[in-house]
Amino acid sequence: MDTKRTKKIVKDAYGRIARESGCGCCNPVSDRREFARSIGYSEAELEVIPDEANLALSCGNPTALASLKEGDIVLDLGSGAGFDCFLALSKVGKTGRVIGVDMTHEMIEKAGENASKIGAQNVEFRLGEIENLPVADNSIDVVISNCVINLSVDKEKVFEEIYRVLKPGGRIAISDVALLKKLPSRIKKSVEAYVGCVAGAVLIDEYEKILKMVGLKNTRVTIKGTSSCCDQDASDPVGKSISDSVRGDKPFKEYVVNVYVEGMKGF
Ligand SMILES: C[S@@+](CC[C@H](N)C(=O)[O-])C[C@H]1O[C@@H](n2cnc3c(N)ncnc32)[C@H](O)[C@@H]1O
Repeated sequence: MDTKRTKKIVKDAYGRIARESGCGCCNPVSDRREFARSIGYSEAELEVIPDEANLALSCGNPTALASLKEGDIVLDLGSGAGFDCFLALSKVGKTGRVIGVDMTHEMIEKAGENASKIGAQNVEFRLGEIENLPVADNSIDVVISNCVINLSVDKEKVFEEIYRVLKPGGRIAISDVALLKKLPSRIKKSVEAYVGCVAGAVLIDEYEKILKMVGLKNTRVTIKGTSSCCDQDASDPVGKSISDSVRGDKPFKEYVVNVYVEGMKGF
């Protein structure tokens, strides 16, 4: 797939998901709160997030490892309907600020509506691509992201951009999907598997190489658990359509895991 076409497919798919408030990736479940709890969100955390911001598109809880503190400026890459932005906002307080960036205008609109509903201050949602962030150099304390970088067609560029926008000493706390071994070519070529956060994922070793290459320090990619993405056995329509498109292959669980990605920009 060429990169322009892939990006359009991802944008169209998540635009549709935002309009339908439904689920496209990472275990759509009827009870989104239950899903969020299963990937590491506490009940107290879910209380501060508007229910409409939880589209069950996440694969971990990046704010749990970000050690956010009062006054931090946080950037969320691929912010969707604002799920982690609202949680981050509750941790950085009135003196902090949260910026969400997403390339899908339906998601930006939805996140803005959610912010208005709860009268959230100090949070803004910017339309843009994570490979070309609409954010100033050296301006961010913590970059978070949840189940997004696997969808990028240029992961090196994403991490170069992260490095550019971080203040010296700034940190990353990212939840994502990575591979334990190379995917069979049928899965690799499947559009459904790409949108479903599987086919665009890279090997863990490759992930670590990119982090170091852009200059991040204290980098770490930790396996967080088996992938919650697109369970072929589940009664999940996206998982099932991927499963149909790659019928006969082994379950994704053999290849795909959820990971936490950490690092910092040195002084
Ligand atoms: C799997 S969803 C995760 C949404 C959100 N992080 C959450 O946990 O609810 C992926 C999101 O990333 C956005 N996205 C995908 N690729 C992107 C890119 N290259 N630049 C900006 N946003 C992107 C999509 O529009 C979508 O909102």
